[in-house]
Amino acid sequence: MRIPIIAGNWKMNKTNNEALQLVNELKTHVNETDVEVVICVPFTALSEVRKAIEGTKIKLGAQNIHWEDGGAYTGEISPDMLLNIGVEYVIIGHSERRQYFHESDETVNLKVKKALEKGLKPIVCVGETLEEREANKTFEVVKRQTEKALQGIKEESMEQIVIAYEPIWAIGTGKTASSGDANTVIAYIREVIQSLYNDTISEMIRIQYGGSVKASNASEIMNEADIDGALVGGASLEAEAFLGIVHF
Ligand code: 13P
Repeated sequence: MRIPIIAGNWKMNKTNNEALQLVNELKTHVNETDVEVVICVPFTALSEVRKAIEGTKIKLGAQNIHWEDGGAYTGEISPDMLLNIGVEYVIIGHSERRQYFHESDETVNLKVKKALEKGLKPIVCVGETLEEREANKTFEVVKRQTEKALQGIKEESMEQIVIAYEPIWAIGTGKTASSGDANTVIAYIREVIQSLYNDTISEMIRIQYGGSVKASNASEIMNEADIDGALVGGASLEAEAFLGIVHF
């Protein structure tokens, strides 16, 4: 039985004051749900948000990490820095990081390995561009991204990992993949994981959908057999919109 996981990815939004206001609006209502709720907030807000969610069901996530333990990497954040604040999840390989910050399948894999080694739970993002979809390359792309991200990851670590399927053309565009299409790709990712590992792992791993998820489409998406939650961008920035998804 896979427990659904709804994660808000705030991206580069919210000052600390704004973050605290949103968390205060969210926290009491989130206690009424059985799904796992995570908010992935900017690095600058992690400490404050950590204190504000104490005693609630909301879990804390970051949006990126570096794959080294520390050293001369100006501007980067290490896993230990996040763990010290009390971060539990970390988004790795979001398409915006691949697209604007040149992250590759190789660095995504290094980050996944380091996160697991340190005890952070990776939310690993995969997904095709519109061009790739139109060229019928969706399966090929998500297979390559999934296999590369998981290269060298041992079976016993797989329980810590969440995969997020986010078709890039559906991010922030208001266009969602139809729930059936999203389920087909996610079922395929599950098959890829089955061939890398085994039935038990592929049936246990949680795979989210992300891309223009809103309260109005959340229940249809979440009702699909292979979809175990959502990675939410825009609609996670406002309490009512995010709670509408959490209570799908
Ligand atoms: P939107 O929900 O704004 O489309 O963003 C999805 C996303 O990129 C979450 O990581």
